[in-house]
Amino acid sequence: MTTTHPPAAYARVTGVGGYLPGAPVTNDDLVRRGINTSDEWIFTRTGIRARHLAAPGETSCRMAALAATQALAMANCAAEELDLIIVATSTPDFIFPSTACLLQGELGNRGATAFDVQAVCSGFVYALAVADKFIRAGAHRKALVVGAETFSRILDWQDRATCVLFGDGAGAVVLEAAGEPGIRASALHADGALAGILSVPGRVENGAVTGDPFLRMEGQAVFKNAVRVLTEAARECCAAAGLETHDLDWLVPHQANIRIIEASSRKMGLSHEKVVATVDRHGNTSAASVPLALAEAVGDGRIRRGQNVLLEGVGGGFTWGAVLLTF
Ligand code: UT7
Repeated sequence: MTTTHPPAAYARVTGVGGYLPGAPVTNDDLVRRGINTSDEWIFTRTGIRARHLAAPGETSCRMAALAATQALAMANCAAEELDLIIVATSTPDFIFPSTACLLQGELGNRGATAFDVQAVCSGFVYALAVADKFIRAGAHRKALVVGAETFSRILDWQDRATCVLFGDGAGAVVLEAAGEPGIRASALHADGALAGILSVPGRVENGAVTGDPFLRMEGQAVFKNAVRVLTEAARECCAAAGLETHDLDWLVPHQANIRIIEASSRKMGLSHEKVVATVDRHGNTSAASVPLALAEAVGDGRIRRGQNVLLEGVGGGFTWGAVLLTF
């Protein structure tokens, strides 16, 4: 797009939506499918009771479209009005075109800027911060920001230490130029020296997969680093917005493990009543986890207009970030 507008004071969330595929797959269902685990082990270590898994042929783009349709309806925005589409995903439908372009085609939008952001479980927070900056610079007015993942397809179902942790789904928001807040601050970081603790270290080369096409993780290293960086990003974001952590009405963290969520919120001095948790029912849906949790808490009336909400992500890369907004 070459159109430029006067810079906007803020970018504001006007719609949210979420989609989870199929029926919940419980921990006991995994045991019945032959995985050498137990509901007791998974729940005690992670807080996960169930996750949703995409059906064969159900892609990240398809789920993104269903979440996006809800978000557009809430924002009273037609797909044709969007001038920016960003999809955060590490499980794109294809190597290219981007899932954002596929989504654009599926929604019937033509001409908007469209691209994917790849920051694994921090992807949605990264994408939202990017959309905020594009809107405040005056380049765009109406953005669709989606996190969509089919991690079930990159899990090694023989590796019980990882396959029980993840699920599939999509969450979306519409973000529009506004005179009132809006996104107040964001903080995005990465440390490539930690690339090896969480990765899918394979690629397609000369018609075959080279390396390992499955998710590999050093669980304890991820756990420790996640608690540390989430707390740092939350403090940085609050300081940039001129707020204290006690000014927050809600924390919507990445949903990887309830123990990570509790440890970081405790360090921030936030009581658990202010924390949105879906990990028990969704598992870790990577880039979809934050917008799915946001959509759930807006949908059931917990998060209301005017409240201060901190969104946080952390994941492979190693990447992490936070966005503080007034809903
Ligand atoms: O977006 C970021 C994504 N990643 C994360 O958030 C993961 C962060 N890390 C964690 O949540 C934890 O490290 C895990 C939940 C993944 C693992 O918990 P842990 O306390 O670090 O367990 P561990 O890997 O040290 O394994 C302890 C034991 C081992 O048995 P032995 O060697 O002590 O006999 C594992 O073989 O638990 C065993 N184990 C399991 N047992 C039953 C590992 N996975 C399972 C399983 N069911 N699914």
